[in-house]
Amino acid sequence: MRDGIHAAVIMDGNGRWATRRGLPRAAGHRRGARAVRRTVEAAPDLGISTLTLFAFSSDNWRRPPEEVGALMDLFERYLKQEIGRCVEEGVRVAFVGRRERLSEPLRRAMLRTERETAAGEVLDLRIAVDYSARDAILEAARRCSGAGPASREEFSRELAGESANAERSPDVDLLIRTGGEQRLSDFLLWEAAYAELVFTPVLWPDFGKDDLAAAVREFRRRERRFGRVPEPVAAAAG
Ligand code: FPP
Repeated sequence: MRDGIHAAVIMDGNGRWATRRGLPRAAGHRRGARAVRRTVEAAPDLGISTLTLFAFSSDNWRRPPEEVGALMDLFERYLKQEIGRCVEEGVRVAFVGRRERLSEPLRRAMLRTERETAAGEVLDLRIAVDYSARDAILEAARRCSGAGPASREEFSRELAGESANAERSPDVDLLIRTGGEQRLSDFLLWEAAYAELVFTPVLWPDFGKDDLAAAVREFRRRERRFGRVPEPVAAAAG
């Protein structure tokens, strides 16, 4: 199952989606949760076997407390609501990021989701909550120190953090950012070393199967060389 594409998504544009409609930002996040469902449903048929979603960055704690509270409530509700569907659809959920700053009920819901979906074999869904790539790298480096230099493989296992459903932190093939901005915002900096980047102006709550399919088509058109020369040049040289 893990032979497919690892797509990672920076889900941006919820706030603007709501503001444009005269709604509170939290309404944009609620609609964003529907886009999460659509994306999870569409991913396996498009050849995606691992999907990492950036739900809450460690810098997002700087948002107004009402918005942070609304997001945390939404995550908890979403997990309780979706767990059965994930089990039915073979979606194995893992959370990446720090847990100790999250509420006890949310942490419990996360653990329960991970345990109950552990046998899923259709899609690895990784949800990044209170996540900072730089902090994850720093923490992994601290854990490795003294043991000598870790290989890239070993290091990617360290980077996975504490989730039992995330044995390692796999390299990203396709990184999508919605909402028109073109930056990485401290997301999967190690794992995205050779990711193909696709930016779309579509706001996250409007994102759907067709947008995901378009991003995958764009990814398949790209030539991934990993530092090598293009194929015809290599053949001619040989
Ligand atoms: C960024 O848009 C979005 C977030 C910080 C939250 C992402 C959360 C969801 C999509 C909700 C559901 C998620 C799960 C996993 C259930 P923004 O608010 O920064 O948008 P803006 O740039 O338009 O202000």
